[in-house]
Amino acid sequence: MTQTYRITLLPGDGIGPEITRVAVAVMEAVGQALDLAFEFTEAPIGGCAIDLTGEPLPAATLDQCRQSDAVLLAAIGGYKWDELPSHQRPERGLLGLRAGLGLFANLRPAKILPQLIDASTLKREVVEGVDIMVVRELTGGIYFGEPKGIFETETGEKRGVSTMVYGEGEIDRIARVAFETAKRRKGQLCSVDKANVLDVSQLWRSRVSAIAADYPEVTLSHLYVDNAAMQLVRAPKQFDTIVTGNLFGDILSDAAAMLTGSIGMLPSASLGVPGTPGVFEPVHGSAPDIAGQDKANPLAHVLSAAMMLRYALDQPVAADRIEAAVNTVLDRGYRTGDIMAEGMTLVGCQAMGDALLEAIAAAN
Ligand code: IPM
Ligand code: MG
Repeated sequence: MTQTYRITLLPGDGIGPEITRVAVAVMEAVGQALDLAFEFTEAPIGGCAIDLTGEPLPAATLDQCRQSDAVLLAAIGGYKWDELPSHQRPERGLLGLRAGLGLFANLRPAKILPQLIDASTLKREVVEGVDIMVVRELTGGIYFGEPKGIFETETGEKRGVSTMVYGEGEIDRIARVAFETAKRRKGQLCSVDKANVLDVSQLWRSRVSAIAADYPEVTLSHLYVDNAAMQLVRAPKQFDTIVTGNLFGDILSDAAAMLTGSIGMLPSASLGVPGTPGVFEPVHGSAPDIAGQDKANPLAHVLSAAMMLRYALDQPVAADRIEAAVNTVLDRGYRTGDIMAEGMTLVGCQAMGDALLEAIAAAN
């Protein structure tokens, strides 16, 4: 019998709709080959949702996500909404989705593909073989801590306040996800904090160290975030799995992404407790400067669909097929502008999608 999955599509803003078209076509092609069916439902989030409903995350969108097996989110935001106050910005939609679904664990792989080594701004010998997984805490820390806001003091001076706070339970659960992840990789986990300055980090470090007792097969190390940032660009191959809080993870995952040459190549998964639908999305943003021009690189989004098949839908064969197709099109020399190199064939978003479909058909 055909297995059917309910997928909520959140194309969002900027290049989101065009890369979503490619990801959907790729999933359908693989589904057809493997007797899997997808019931796709689109919902608005971010800037387009603000335009439609006045809110970046309409309640109907969150409900729709809750009722699906998994969510494929493209990108949100753009110049048009940049001047809005913080609680009405498109980014709020994303944060609301993470909080609303309880997606506390964000997995961001940064693996360099051999075909793209020369697209990295770092030397070949530094990045060749890089394979890092950043496990970022996603629903706590300074992004959500209270008190927060801009307050006026008695003298009339304004003070901006954000609070970095982590409870033991929040640290323990992300630590466990990270140890489990490291266990299935090379067994090395590096926890990143700022325990030399921040109390919240001291608790973080002591809890992560305590949880380590349950995972004797994983080697745990600790780094301060400033040193971690430096080590990531100095000698990235020393890292296997990194676990860190929301803000440090936001920053370090962008740095890790760039080791691979283009942020346009990287997928991510945001997961909650078992039973909640996960959200799968590319690490890159909505790229409003190239939106609607058929220039976007759809590969990170296509790889996000593969991650969704692997982690949420337990369809590793389908995921393998998609990843193999990405490999094939890169081997054939197809490149979007962001990863273009001498001697390669420059293609647009749609043509990259067509090349993927061809690769999938040929592999059947
Ligand atoms: C990310 C993004 C978001 C974040 C923004 C858009 C809210 O930078 O997913 O890394 O800071 O988490
Ligand atoms: Mg970010």
